[in-house]
Amino acid sequence: PAVDAMVAALPKVSLHCHLIGTVAPATVVELAAKHGVPLDRGAHDLYDHGSYEDLGEFLRVLDVVGSVIRDVDDFHRVTYESLVAGGADHNVLYREIQLSPPGHPEVPYPRILEGVVAGLRDARTDSGIDARLVVGINRERSGADAVELVEQVIEHRIDEVVGIGLDYAEVNGPPGRFVEAYRLAGRAGLGRTAHSESGPPAHVLTLLDELGCSRVDHGYHVVDDPEITARCVAERIPFTCTPVSSDIGRYSGSGDGTHARIRQMVDAGLLVTIDSDDPPMFGTDPTHDYRVLAHALGYRRDQLAAFTANAVEACWLDATSKADLL
Ligand code: ADE
Ligand code: ZN
Repeated sequence: PAVDAMVAALPKVSLHCHLIGTVAPATVVELAAKHGVPLDRGAHDLYDHGSYEDLGEFLRVLDVVGSVIRDVDDFHRVTYESLVAGGADHNVLYREIQLSPPGHPEVPYPRILEGVVAGLRDARTDSGIDARLVVGINRERSGADAVELVEQVIEHRIDEVVGIGLDYAEVNGPPGRFVEAYRLAGRAGLGRTAHSESGPPAHVLTLLDELGCSRVDHGYHVVDDPEITARCVAERIPFTCTPVSSDIGRYSGSGDGTHARIRQMVDAGLLVTIDSDDPPMFGTDPTHDYRVLAHALGYRRDQLAAFTANAVEACWLDATSKADLL
């Protein structure tokens, strides 16, 4: 249909995507074989996204993927594939991709960067896509672990790393635990974002006031509190929403579904962007997430293009580079 062609052609900017979550199943199987890691499933049913009962179950599969990405070549490969097949082929012009060092406990952080940066460079040469990195803290670990990771980020500072994020299950890691790590990142001039997916609106306040976040990943529950919503509208706080992954994962914890939440957020005047989170793991891709909203909420080209414009505003490039994006 015409709407599908329009959605495919629409320029996109992607701010909420996890490197480990973008790996194609065939690549996972190949890397597992390369490193002699046994997998209990094959490429066809590795990502049985209908079966993720909750976020915890999904994160266990994510851990398996992380465990097969082990050397510089692996990081190079998965980054390249994530940006070209998973991004540029869907008219993604620019991506800030979240990298989660705690998901690769055997690989030193500088080695991870080496492979990922090579992947960024080659993807840009071959497809034109530009990208930066957001280093993800695993919130199920301690505040001290988070501080240690931010110290590494600062010690090995490179231009490609533009900020930090906070992933894994919010119920097991309230945002207040990470105040010190976020302050450290803020003093170093790093951008700050964090997931708030199932958590209460008060978590959004913690993100803004205690962690110094300039954007929020998901944030569906903000609309449960009119006062916090009004503040986020006034401050133009970006919310990076992921229609397909959150709907499948039922992480939003809302009886009325994630799409309805996203509509509420848009109608409230919040700065919403659309993304895919962990595309192949949830059977989606950048085009599909836009398409799903077009079909579920009746959004036309002007609203879908507004999501891209919001992402340009929300991204962590400098003003000149932003102006050059579209
Ligand atoms: N890591 C990858 N995807 C995630 C999600 N949706 N929530 C928390 N952590 C994640
Ligand atoms: Zn996410």
